[in-house]
Amino acid sequence: MWRVEAAGTGDAAGLAALYRRVWDGYRGALPDALLDHRSPDAREIASLMADMTYFVVRDGDGIIGVARCHVECEACYLERMVVDAPFRRMGVGTALVERVVRHANENSCHKVFLNTSPKLTDSMAFYERMGFARCGLFHRHFWGEDVIFYELLL
Ligand SMILES: CC(C)(COP(=O)(O)OP(=O)(O)OC[C@H]1O[C@@H](n2cnc3c(N)ncnc32)[C@H](O)[C@@H]1OP(=O)(O)O)[C@@H](O)C(=O)NCCC(=O)NCCS
Repeated sequence: MWRVEAAGTGDAAGLAALYRRVWDGYRGALPDALLDHRSPDAREIASLMADMTYFVVRDGDGIIGVARCHVECEACYLERMVVDAPFRRMGVGTALVERVVRHANENSCHKVFLNTSPKLTDSMAFYERMGFARCGLFHRHFWGEDVIFYELLL
């Protein structure tokens, strides 16, 4: 059975591989520059861990899902969430969001917020199912792609 845990720098290589695996699946649908940005190498991930909290879902020794969050000014920014394709629709994403919401509550946050691409229709269905409300749209934003914003008030 899988479990949700805070990640450490020893997980950086596994996370880099997971991000690369997932985002390579979107080549052609989203700009390469965006996908490369979503697929940092292990060294970059390890250094980002100094400022951000990474939660992972482990299945045995393997990492099958990840979400990163950052609390600033009593708001919690959820980002870089992926679940490995063979493990989707099994509640892994739900467990990650629940863990981030707990982290936000423990840090006196008023909300969890995030953004996604309107091309990632699975993610929109997922976040709406998790109770997030659409609260904004930026046109031609990161790498010229539209960006949709969601928030969950706590
Ligand atoms: C979005 C994502 C994280 C969801 O993770 P997941 O582990 O599959 O999500 P869950 O199993 O917890 O899904 C919970 C509910 O969300 C909804 N949902 C999830 N994936 C869905 C999909 N592809 N289509 C429609 N609804 C979906 C369903 O209501 C689902 O409940 P159900 O399976 O009982 O119907 C995963 O699909 C993913 O990694 N996608 C690619 C990367 C990505 O888009 N990341 C987000 C970037 S902002």
